[in-house]
Amino acid sequence: MSEETFQRYSAYYDLLYRDKDYETEADSVARALRAANPNTHSVLEFGSGTGRHGRLLAEHGFDVFGIERSQTMVTTARSFTDDSAVGRESGIFDCVQGDIQTTTLNRPFHAVLALFHVVSYQTTDADVDRTFANAARHLSADGIFFFDVWHGPAVLHERPAVREKRVEDATTLLTRLAEPRLDVDRHTVTVRYSITAQSKIDNQITEFQEEHCMRYFFPEEITSFARKTGFNVERSEEFLTAQPPSDRTWGVAYLLRKRT
Ligand SMILES: C[S@@+](CC[C@H](N)C(=O)[O-])C[C@H]1O[C@@H](n2cnc3c(N)ncnc32)[C@H](O)[C@@H]1O
Repeated sequence: MSEETFQRYSAYYDLLYRDKDYETEADSVARALRAANPNTHSVLEFGSGTGRHGRLLAEHGFDVFGIERSQTMVTTARSFTDDSAVGRESGIFDCVQGDIQTTTLNRPFHAVLALFHVVSYQTTDADVDRTFANAARHLSADGIFFFDVWHGPAVLHERPAVREKRVEDATTLLTRLAEPRLDVDRHTVTVRYSITAQSKIDNQITEFQEEHCMRYFFPEEITSFARKTGFNVERSEEFLTAQPPSDRTWGVAYLLRKRT
């Protein structure tokens, strides 16, 4: 992934995903964490973005610490951190700028999360090895690593298509054109996003393009990366519905447990 990825896009991230149901997702993740280990309290979140899952999980009582590469995302996320700590029953959410493959925090966590395809942004075998190894390094005995990725059988069956998305809020009208390029040898889809943002205040138009390279995974690849880095695959299912993955399931959630 180029260093530029998410640099300009990140400024519009929350508007682009304003309709994504983070509450339902956080409820589902909280249930999965507690089912896997009722004592789960400390959570490390890889690719924490603008902190929407992290803040909601804090409301569920978890202490969540995020590592996020985009400084713009970290700044946005941290602008809310005081609020998330307010409720007495709440845990806390905070985050730092860093790379999930290499950033080391000198404390263990009960669980590591990587939500909304963060692992799919790790496109080479070496990237995935480093990400999984870093998750293992930060987990206490029996800890779990929970993430969702693009599912190879669905990507090959349904094929990525050109899509346009329009969203707006009180100040901005945003159009995003997504043009995908499939590479079946590398198991990647490179999506070229063309963004047009029009200010409703002064009609000024901002236009830019950004490429995001995403990797899709087959279950046997995840099993192999897991084995190499000290995990067992405990569950895999469609994210949110918990249905068995099929060639129509674009996002599959994996729950890995650190081997003792
Ligand atoms: C699709 S966004 C998901 C953000 C957030 N988890 C959410 O659900 O809104 C993917 C995020 O992963 C981050 N990311 C990708 N690779 C990363 C890496 N190697 N280290 C840190 N962050 C990374 C990106 O900067 C981006 O914020």
